[in-house]
Amino acid sequence: MDSPDQPIAVIILAAGKGTRMKSDLHKVLHPIAGRPMLLHLIANAGALAPARTVVVTGAGRAQVEAAVAPLGIATALQAEQLGTGHAVAQARAALDGFEGDVLVLYGDVPLVTAATMRRMIDRLHGDDTPAVVVLGFRPADPGAYGRVIADAAGRMDRIVEYKDASAAERAVTLCNSGLMAVRSSDLFALLDRLGNDNAAGEYYLTDIVGLAGSDGQASAVIETGADEVAGVNSRGELAGVEAAWQATRRAQAMAAGVTLIAPDTVWFAHDTILGRDVTIEPNVVFGPGVRVADGAVIHAFSHVEGATIGAGADVGPFARLRPGADLGAGSRVGNFVEVKKATIGAGAKVNHLSYIGDAEIGARANIGAGTITCNYDGYFKYRTVIGAGTFIGSNSALVAPVTIGDGAIVAAGSVVTQDVAADALALVRPPQVARPGWAARFREKMLAMKAARA
Ligand code: UD1
Ligand code: CA
Repeated sequence: MDSPDQPIAVIILAAGKGTRMKSDLHKVLHPIAGRPMLLHLIANAGALAPARTVVVTGAGRAQVEAAVAPLGIATALQAEQLGTGHAVAQARAALDGFEGDVLVLYGDVPLVTAATMRRMIDRLHGDDTPAVVVLGFRPADPGAYGRVIADAAGRMDRIVEYKDASAAERAVTLCNSGLMAVRSSDLFALLDRLGNDNAAGEYYLTDIVGLAGSDGQASAVIETGADEVAGVNSRGELAGVEAAWQATRRAQAMAAGVTLIAPDTVWFAHDTILGRDVTIEPNVVFGPGVRVADGAVIHAFSHVEGATIGAGADVGPFARLRPGADLGAGSRVGNFVEVKKATIGAGAKVNHLSYIGDAEIGARANIGAGTITCNYDGYFKYRTVIGAGTFIGSNSALVAPVTIGDGAIVAAGSVVTQDVAADALALVRPPQVARPGWAARFREKMLAMKAARA
């Protein structure tokens, strides 16, 4: 057995057209849990600290290049899609000088875990040092997958593509996920020998197994669950992979001490961070960038994105937290309240029907029902600062830029356009006029008029 601690290079195939998605967006860039599937795969592979990562692009390559460029990941162009073996061969220049283990992944098989990738690499360094390690699985319907022809101990003879398979071979239930681990020293030499004399007229990556075998070098298959290697070729399959990702994430959340009353109705993003004893009621949707501290409760039908929710905070039902919402410990954001780029101080309450944007609300402030921070004049955005311990009466409009000092009270229905001093009362509405008996006199007059006309 040689050392399993060789450098690792990752080749991700993403040159296919993805025609069945019927999309202007490249298939591998369709999001799962709010992140392009290709980036899920790159993140998972990243756990193996690869020395190099190369994405093989072709159709729609500009989009893929733009998506991976910020990560400093190389791309290799496959100008014509002549098959998976041909695709891998295009990574040769990018791997020039690399010596170690190569992991071949498919951009449209996004949920493969780092643990499985690690198992493949470890198997490559097993006692029998196989030339190729293939990740196999047993789908409920083997359909048109390539079949893995192996013995019971997982020693592989070859992989036969469905189109080329005999009836007996098609009856094999062990299928090729497409993922492979191969030493760099073997990979390119084997690829050089590929032909395309087969039913598809393509250079099949899978043929390297048979080629290694004809040199007397054994290969091995290891198995994983069908969910993990589910591929995305259509919107339906995209939804299926999303569902599988969500199911896994919900289970993780509950195992980590989060209460989900109706788990199937809660949708997480790829980066949702949840504390302990958080409770999430039914039908809550998380966009990217959310962090929820211990003991917070998110009530039903809330939509939360780019937000930080402090310990013990209480959100919703029907709350909308947009990017930059930062809720302090024990604060409360109630029904039909929208918060954007705003800090809600510890223990502060915005209980009903409000818009709080570009604002800072001090600790323990009480923001009455229907309060609006008027943050936009059609051209620029302005900030509203509301001090600690303030009381903002219902249906107030705070026209930014404006500051309400600590402990101040704003009377209900006020339209506040000037700063309010600490501990002051701001009352911005016409004085009330009282006319005793006026309504009764009016009623009598009108009824009399109506009777005269009847
Ligand atoms: C491939 C495997 C098959 C396996 C199946 C699993 C081969 C010959 N067959 O078949 O054994 O069961 O995947 O899904 O490898 N690609 C390129 N350039 C090409 C061709 C493909 O980059 O010239 C990329 C595609 O974008 C995709 C991946 O390779 O990400 C797989 O290609 P696809 O055509 O779907 O392979 P299958 O015929 O399904
Ligand atoms: Ca496929």
